[in-house]
Amino acid sequence: MLAVVPTPVTVRAPAKVNLHLAVGDLRADGYHDLTTLFQSLSLIDEVTVAVADESRLEVRGEGAADVPTDESNLVWKAVRALAAHVGRDPDEPKLRISINKGIPVAGGMAGGSADAAATLVALAHLWRLEMGRDELATVAAEIGSDVPFVLQGGLALGTGRGEQLVPVLSRHTYHWVMALDAGGLSTPEVFRELDRLRVEGNPPRVGAVEPVLEALASGDPNQLALLLGNDLQAAAVSLRPGLRRTLRAGVNAGALAGIVSGSGPTCAFLCSDGDAAVRVAAELSGAGVCRTVRVAQGPVAGARVVTGEDAA
Ligand code: C5P
Repeated sequence: MLAVVPTPVTVRAPAKVNLHLAVGDLRADGYHDLTTLFQSLSLIDEVTVAVADESRLEVRGEGAADVPTDESNLVWKAVRALAAHVGRDPDEPKLRISINKGIPVAGGMAGGSADAAATLVALAHLWRLEMGRDELATVAAEIGSDVPFVLQGGLALGTGRGEQLVPVLSRHTYHWVMALDAGGLSTPEVFRELDRLRVEGNPPRVGAVEPVLEALASGDPNQLALLLGNDLQAAAVSLRPGLRRTLRAGVNAGALAGIVSGSGPTCAFLCSDGDAAVRVAAELSGAGVCRTVRVAQGPVAGARVVTGEDAA
């Protein structure tokens, strides 16, 4: 019988925004090679994992009604992947998982990935696994391309599918306004749309990542604003043309720059400081171009235990 901690474990995991997202060609495995700069954001999902008589997933909070609770949810994929990695039965003991969502669903902010990363950290505690973060990251990469980053948090350069990470030193905090759309976008569909646009024509491509790293080192949001870029933006806007208006409205409201976050449809607006972000958020929410707005800052910590034994 394996030792089990009976106390439920709660883990918080952050959203992400890609400050720079260069999408390469379609690979034979259906993925695209990426060069991306991830920054974690202070929009947080909270996941509680407890031992229970029956397996069950409950979802509350932002967009909860749109989250599947069946086997397709990434938290169950995380349970299966970690159990397989350490050679134990994923169904014994049974688990009750509760997600409190602060990250928009299907919004291009890695909300599902954050839940999976949080589940991995919670299970490592609950099952008392002696696993380092690097080993957990290899399991995370099997679950999804963004899962290793939200596990790690902070600021990082991602290559490969986005799962190969090099941390980037960050001494500065950046202030954002996130404009949440009425619906979500499917990540595979957005990548497919980019492939289609590239066959038809020549959608814009972001430049090199080095100047973005230099801007980050300077800590000047004005410099960073000039260099924000996302190859998926053209595809997201093609599928959701109203995003053009949202992007314009954020800049008109006083943001330094706006980009589509990841595969969208959330738009991320970089602001000069926290006060400016509050002003931009107020004006943008009155402009009628998005469902709602959130103020966020980054980078923040990756997935970490907040309650239960050994909270750290
Ligand atoms: O890795 P993840 O399961 O989150 O990716 C979801 C989908 O996004 C993939 O099935 C693929 O269609 C697309 N994707 C991609 N290239 C990447 C990451 C994701 O084409 N580097």
